[in-house]
Amino acid sequence: MAWIGERDLGTKAIAAAAPAMVTLRIDGQDVAVPEGTSIMRAASLVGTNVPKLCATDTLEAFGSCRLCLVEIDGRTGYPASCTTPVAEGMVVRTQTDRLAKLRRGVMELYISDHPLDCLTCSANGDCELQDQAGAVGLRDVRYGYEGLNHLVADKDESNPYFTFDPAKCIVCSRCVRACDEIQGTFALTIEGSGFGSKVAASQDDGFLASECVSCGACVQACPTSALIEKSVIAAGTPDKAVVTTCAYCGVGCTFRAEMRGEQLVRMVPWKDGKANRGHSCVKGRFAWGYANHRDRILNPMIRASVDEPWREVSWDEAIAYTASEFRRIQAKYGKDSVGGITSSRCTNEETFLVQKLIRQGFGNNNVDTCARVCHSPTGYGLKTTFGTSAGTQDFDSVAHADVIMVIGANPTDGHPVFASRMKQRLRQGAKLIVIDPRRIDLVHTPHIDAAYHLPLRPGTNVAVLTAIAHVVVTEGLADEAFVRERCDWSEFEDWAAFVAQPERSPEATEALTDVPADDLRAAARLFATGGNGAIYYGLGVTEHSQGSSTVMAIANLAMATGNIGREGVGVNPLRGQNNVQGSCDMGSFPHEYSGYRHVSDVATREMFERAWGVALDAEPGLRIPNMLDAATEGTFKALFVQGEDILQSDPNTHHVAAGLAAMECVVVQDLFLNETANYAHIFLPGSTFLEKDGTFTNAERRIQRVRKVMEPLNGYADWEIVQLVANAIGLEWSYIHPSEIMDEIAALTPTFATVSYDALDRLGSLQWPATEAAPDGTPTMHVRARQGAFRCHRLHPHRREDRAAFPAAADHRAHPQPIQCRRPDAAHR
Ligand code: SF4
Ligand code: SF4
Ligand code: SF4
Ligand code: FES
Repeated sequence: MAWIGERDLGTKAIAAAAPAMVTLRIDGQDVAVPEGTSIMRAASLVGTNVPKLCATDTLEAFGSCRLCLVEIDGRTGYPASCTTPVAEGMVVRTQTDRLAKLRRGVMELYISDHPLDCLTCSANGDCELQDQAGAVGLRDVRYGYEGLNHLVADKDESNPYFTFDPAKCIVCSRCVRACDEIQGTFALTIEGSGFGSKVAASQDDGFLASECVSCGACVQACPTSALIEKSVIAAGTPDKAVVTTCAYCGVGCTFRAEMRGEQLVRMVPWKDGKANRGHSCVKGRFAWGYANHRDRILNPMIRASVDEPWREVSWDEAIAYTASEFRRIQAKYGKDSVGGITSSRCTNEETFLVQKLIRQGFGNNNVDTCARVCHSPTGYGLKTTFGTSAGTQDFDSVAHADVIMVIGANPTDGHPVFASRMKQRLRQGAKLIVIDPRRIDLVHTPHIDAAYHLPLRPGTNVAVLTAIAHVVVTEGLADEAFVRERCDWSEFEDWAAFVAQPERSPEATEALTDVPADDLRAAARLFATGGNGAIYYGLGVTEHSQGSSTVMAIANLAMATGNIGREGVGVNPLRGQNNVQGSCDMGSFPHEYSGYRHVSDVATREMFERAWGVALDAEPGLRIPNMLDAATEGTFKALFVQGEDILQSDPNTHHVAAGLAAMECVVVQDLFLNETANYAHIFLPGSTFLEKDGTFTNAERRIQRVRKVMEPLNGYADWEIVQLVANAIGLEWSYIHPSEIMDEIAALTPTFATVSYDALDRLGSLQWPATEAAPDGTPTMHVRARQGAFRCHRLHPHRREDRAAFPAAADHRAHPQPIQCRRPDAAHR
């Protein structure tokens, strides 16, 4: 593990797609850069680091510190290189005696009001002020410390994760700008003026009492120790780092996990991370202490009955007991009497192994995951309409959206890092439509006001989307050329005729939805005519009785308005846990192998049978509720649960408890004794994301490496524990590294065909489908005409979950013609 630094080029790269290039000469060296680039950045690109303090390449140039002065032929004075753009033929000098003297003078002023305690400072060795003082050759300070200064200002220790020491502050505004530009919370300001200028949180309330959400962007931006992590103060500055992926949410932020010895000191968002672009939220940056929490269980435990106390045992005994119990129960009650649950918190490789254990080792398809509960409507709805069970875009796409529609999601709370990206675009002028019963933060937040908030009555998602489609179709706003070229025209006609019926209109549905018809019409017009229209949705859509129909209605709206297949548009499910997408991709469903291929598909099944050397069951297995039903009926007797707390998170807790209580063997593999463990007979300690190698797949279909930062405190990574169980029941697995599991996934899963750890290390990350046709992955789906199975999928009046779309007569009489649309298969009903 080595130190992984990040280069700071001083100012941002030019965002234009094909900018004109400008050639200039810097210190005798010619350099060609995109028009609009700063002199500072151009100089950095040819290896000349101009001294700087207020500039950093994650923020807009500010030009306040005056340390970056340069000389330009033909111009008077000494312009700041961070705020001066390059020009054709420009000749720049960054290092002259005159510049050195000016910079020393500037630095001298800073240091004259700065404590001279570098040796005892928490940032010693990791401080830009210290570095730049050295870079400009400051040797002494002529001004004494008599008179007014800021050296005795009180520290603000109120935030649990970082401190603010005004004595170390140079009032460069990087923290304020980070909070404004990156995070979008606008919690900080520079209060006062001149000598009295100081950083203040809200109305000088202190960080904890302010609007601050503890994202840490300001801490990361600060060039001194004025803002610094308490963990660094406690442990000292880190000396090595490894890049890994956060284990909290579906955004999938990557971090430099910075270590001092074997101790994790801080998590710093990775600037090259394509999902987070150097930003993070409070959880990923600061809330990793659970890895060392005293309540973690580190030794395996067993008990014959849940009424008995746990007994710590060796790993050998725990694994052997697990295997013997599953074999005993299958021998007594049949092969279908056991099953397992994969985790959306664990890696792809671990999830793949759990479903393999069940299919290859137990001989059935009784495997399920929490991700089916939260996002199977996404999988089913998008597969039915687009042919692929995933969102269509990457997060960068939002920067090209003109109209953003957010349905049933609260990104600032649920996906704050992506929300910050979305807010950046909204502050640039994109329009926002929020469809949500709640007045979520985005509706009105600093510098953002939604164009329309449609506060629908809960349960009327389909009706609202159908009414929007009604406006699009009846007002001639559909993109006919796009639909003719890219979609099934006859399906579209059928769908258009349906949504155009008078009873689907905003006026007819207003009483049902509570959404004012005028607002709905205006929102529909804006979405259809406002340029690139992007739809983002969350659990307010999918964890709902109309989930699949709503997802299909969303997809239909995107297709009908031509908002598919390029940047800035698309259908974007905001996934919950870190590996919800991955656990679905890996075959965690009772009816599907990895890559969403049905277990009844002969060719797919035969491929897995050849690879695994066993006959596989062609019948879908039991979902979690079916397993619990079967348990209470006495036919399902043993469950292997990895990294999920079904007693806590599944609906109908009494039913879950009754099902678990009826089983003879419940195995829980987890970090802590969770609620489900109350009903467990075997507890296998799990490992955190910091303790293992693997991959997670985020909401963009982006596969990213999880890298081991520390040795597992329990002795094994989760994938190793599953392998021990598999071998104890007689399988002969011999993976020595998760990369081999990924190789097997790639060999068996067409959409992962070119995924490997080598490719991930080379590319940083990879968005599936990754195939021979797109070996480096697919950031935007459905780019090419006629790619995939675009279908306009209509609502079905006979289907219970679609009935809200039929307010005039919520039964088949509303639609006299028989409708030929695909029905959900058995596993989805
Ligand atoms: S903030 Fe930097 S310059 Fe100031 S005392 Fe600490 S290490 Fe030295
Ligand atoms: S932690 Fe985040 S929200 Fe709080 S002040 Fe800093 S940048 Fe703003
Ligand atoms: S706290 Fe840090 S980033 Fe903010 S103004 Fe002071 S020195 Fe600059
Ligand atoms: S770095 Fe250019 S003015 Fe501060």
